[in-house]
This record gives sequence, structure tokens and C-alpha cells, in this order.
Amino acid sequence: MRFGPGIQTRQWIADWIQERAEERSVVSGLGTWAVTETDTAAVIGYCGLFSYPDIGGRSEIELGYRLARRFWGKGYATEAALAVRDHAFDALGLPRLVALIDPANARSLRVAAKLGMRFEREAMLPNYSYPDHLYSIERADVPTTR
Ligand SMILES: CC(C)(COP(=O)(O)OP(=O)(O)OC[C@H]1O[C@@H](n2cnc3c(N)ncnc32)[C@H](O)[C@@H]1OP(=O)(O)O)[C@@H](O)C(=O)NCCC(=O)NCCS
Repeated sequence: MRFGPGIQTRQWIADWIQERAEERSVVSGLGTWAVTETDTAAVIGYCGLFSYPDIGGRSEIELGYRLARRFWGKGYATEAALAVRDHAFDALGLPRLVALIDPANARSLRVAAKLGMRFEREAMLPNYSYPDHLYSIERADVPTTR
């Protein structure tokens, strides 16, 4: 809530989930996955690949993640994001992924670092009052021994 669009109504959230389900593209392979906890099968958040047609003049695919607060600090975001990263590079053949992160979002910055992403530059997005930090990773940067 602090680094996103803030607290929303249940209807806003229902519409958001519906839009994500409808935009899931079988052709491109991009879109949002639900993250579930193995032991309980509870849906605890999402992780996915999002297309940005123009970030500083370049088309980018973002790896994004968000979990419910009570499931933080268990390594779940890293586990989900590593799986999505590897799927993006190995199954979809994408050459590069980015993460757009508020510089004050220490947890997210740490997850990006654990994915092997590195700070590249600042990126000012529409309607933002200050720039996000753009982290990136190229397929060639990922160790092949995984
Ligand atoms: C970002 C988010 C997905 C992280 O989820 P998570 O399951 O807690 O992440 P993980 O447990 O895999 O890893 C978190 C890392 O941050 C570290 N961390 C936690 N609090 C921290 C802090 N205040 N400062 C620095 N690092 C911190 C943890 O120690 C861990 O690193 P480690 O494995 O080296 O110990 C979760 O906080 C979230 O959903 N936030 C709200 C949505 C959001 O900000 N999404 C990202 C938008 S760019």
C-alpha cells in the first residue's frame, strides 16, 4: 500500500483481479500468476510479467511481485520471482527483465538483488512525483548451473 496505489475498495480489487485474468496472454506468455502457499494452498499474492511499451524510449518486460503482509519474510517472494525469472528466460526466451522499484522499498530491492538484478538507472513513470529505480538482468547474466 505504501509504495503502490494505496488502500482501495473491494470493488477496485475485484476489477483489478478480473483485468489481470482477462489480459493473461497465451500467445506472449506474459501476465500474472497467483502465488499459493504449498502447505495450505492459500492464495497469498501474485507474481508476474508486465509489458511496458516505453520506459525512457525502450520497451521493457517487468518482473513484479506482491504478497499479503502476513506472508512476508519467509522467502516466498524470492522463490516465486526466481521461478518466474527462469520461466521468462528459459520457456519464453525473453532477453531481459527489469524491476521498477521505489528506492525506499528495501524489501523489494533485496528481492531484486537476490534475483541477480542490478541497478541500472532512475526511471520517471507517468503520474509519479519522483523516479523509481530501474533494476535489470539479461538472460546471459543468469548462471547456467541452476
Ligand atoms: C516486496 C515483497 C514482495 C517481499 O516479500 P517477502 O516474501 O518478504 O520477500 P523475501 O522473504 O523473499 O525476501 C525479503 C528480503 O528482504 C530482506 N528485508 C526484510 N526487511 C528488510 C528491510 N527493512 N531492509 C532491508 N532488507 C529487508 C529480508 O531479510 C530478505 O532478504 P534475505 O533473504 O537476504 O534475508 C513484500 O514485502 C511485498 O509484497 N511488499 C508490498 C508490494 C511491493 O512492494 N512489491 C514490490 C513492488 S516493486
